[in-house]
Amino acid sequence: MAKCFFYNEDCLANMGRMASKNFKVDLVITSPPYMTSRSKVKTQKALDTYNRRYDICLDDMDENEYREWTINIFNKLDKVLSKDGVVLYNISYGSENPNAMWLLPEAIINNTPFMISDCIVWKKGSALPNNVGNKMTRLTEFVFIISRKSDFATYRINKKVKSVREDTGQKYYENMSNFIQAPNNDGSCDLNKATYSSKLCEELLFRFANENSIVFDPFMGTGTTAIACEKFCPSDTMMCIGCELSPNQVEFSKKRLAAFREGKDMRQFTRELKREKKPNANDTVHQIPSGEGGENTGVPSQT
Ligand SMILES: C[S@@+](CC[C@H](N)C(=O)[O-])C[C@H]1O[C@@H](n2cnc3c(N)ncnc32)[C@H](O)[C@@H]1O
Repeated sequence: MAKCFFYNEDCLANMGRMASKNFKVDLVITSPPYMTSRSKVKTQKALDTYNRRYDICLDDMDENEYREWTINIFNKLDKVLSKDGVVLYNISYGSENPNAMWLLPEAIINNTPFMISDCIVWKKGSALPNNVGNKMTRLTEFVFIISRKSDFATYRINKKVKSVREDTGQKYYENMSNFIQAPNNDGSCDLNKATYSSKLCEELLFRFANENSIVFDPFMGTGTTAIACEKFCPSDTMMCIGCELSPNQVEFSKKRLAAFREGKDMRQFTRELKREKKPNANDTVHQIPSGEGGENTGVPSQT
């Protein structure tokens, strides 16, 4: 079994602790909140009817706040990502605010040690028809491959050498396409309406991980990255660390991983858990553990 650690806390607190212990991760695979919430109304009725994307995260920063928040995230990632590690950042946009996602590359490039080194297009299984008259149905999303500027020429990727030219020593590599076709998700979940699929995540692991990788997902949601790590390498040489604000989603992730390891049908499991657990509108962002005490102490031991 892969070693999986779930932390119910703000990823900034978690990264701060990792940095203070000089703990390094090899690869980050994540999908941050997109700030595409349609409901800016934070009335109790709105919360009760659960018209938000995530169960507790309001997903409603304005463009400037989102930009500053992202810069902060990447400056913290700089402290925990090993040399030549990459951040695989899956991000999308809403029809109402398509600019938000495009402001981020500029913000990252100009305000952090990172750059956009490449980009994967993910074609999903399906997309909801877009009801806005002049907008297309968005069947694809992007995964930005973000490396440190200083690691642009050397960042880790699993491209294989196909042949070497004898006279010059020039290497020729197998093709590795920047296109992935994978399902939208592993089954819909009431706690989070913006999950990705473990198949997408596994395809990313094939390209960027190995059996000794320490993978970090700062926005773990329902634990999809952990499931993908377990599929990719079910041995304790592989480590996956995840952070999530929502206690319900952390609980869900733990149960989901246990069910996966028991060989249960994952879609069936998600449906059953959905009936068992309703999102709790009283959970608010103010109840985030501080990162001190309970499960949120320490970091996994790094050998
Ligand atoms: C796009 S979802 C991730 C979905 C995940 N990839 C999955 O498949 O389940 C983003 C998640 O980030 C969480 N989140 C938002 N801000 C956070 C923060 N500062 N630290 C940790 N988690 C956060 C939200 O609660 C939400 O569940």
